[in-house]
Amino acid sequence: MADRPLIVGNWKMNGTRAMLSEARAIDRAAQRHMKVEVAIAPPYTLIHAVHREVEQIGVGAQDCHPGTDGAFTGDISATMLADAGAKFVIVGHSERRQGHGESNDLVKEKAQSALDAGMNVIMCCGEDEATRDAGKAAAFVSKQLKASLPAQIESAGEKLTVAYEPIWAIGTGKTATPEDIGAMHAEIRQLLIKLYGEEQGAEVRILYGGSVKPENAREILSVEDVNGALVGGASLTADSFMGIAIAAGDTLEA
Ligand code: 13P
Repeated sequence: MADRPLIVGNWKMNGTRAMLSEARAIDRAAQRHMKVEVAIAPPYTLIHAVHREVEQIGVGAQDCHPGTDGAFTGDISATMLADAGAKFVIVGHSERRQGHGESNDLVKEKAQSALDAGMNVIMCCGEDEATRDAGKAAAFVSKQLKASLPAQIESAGEKLTVAYEPIWAIGTGKTATPEDIGAMHAEIRQLLIKLYGEEQGAEVRILYGGSVKPENAREILSVEDVNGALVGGASLTADSFMGIAIAAGDTLEA
């Protein structure tokens, strides 16, 4: 099991060049907390600038097109993102699946193209509220992941991260209970072991996402099989984002 927690900030559609100072502040703080791996996924327009400004933290993208190049107006390929300095791509975020109608098949193609471009992948999954209320969350997430993950990934433990983000917890201030998070992450772990084998499946980090803040981070990050967090709103300032990273470091000592 990877023992260095990973805290990733997903800036979503936020950030102009004025936010570069925040990225620098995150980077400086991350250099003081090396037990925790810290990364941010700014909007496309800032990837290269952030990459040039920071020394310690990872920089990634929030999405990519499945192709490498061609007549796809407005799209950006994984190859282009890697060239801009991105080291990972988030794929299958619910805001893409729901807001842009992305299917599991498309998400899988995107993941493959990011891997082919030499980048790591953060594969998102998560159920909506009706599915959770119907008691079908675990079955839904397993099926979604099975259909979205490439069948074979070389060095999956290193290249792949899974982020469990229940849709009803994103940006709502609601979080899943530690018991529910633990049960879902255990389910995901079993699936990863089945797909990628005992050794690699155990190494894949599983992040929790959905209203993670400095105040609730320690409790969430202490749950078995929670190897980090994917953070939206609270990643937009160095103070709150690094509060979460520091809480992740504290769980290693606890
Ligand atoms: P919030 O942390 O704003 O709930 O967003 C979570 C998320 O969607 C990260 O990808």
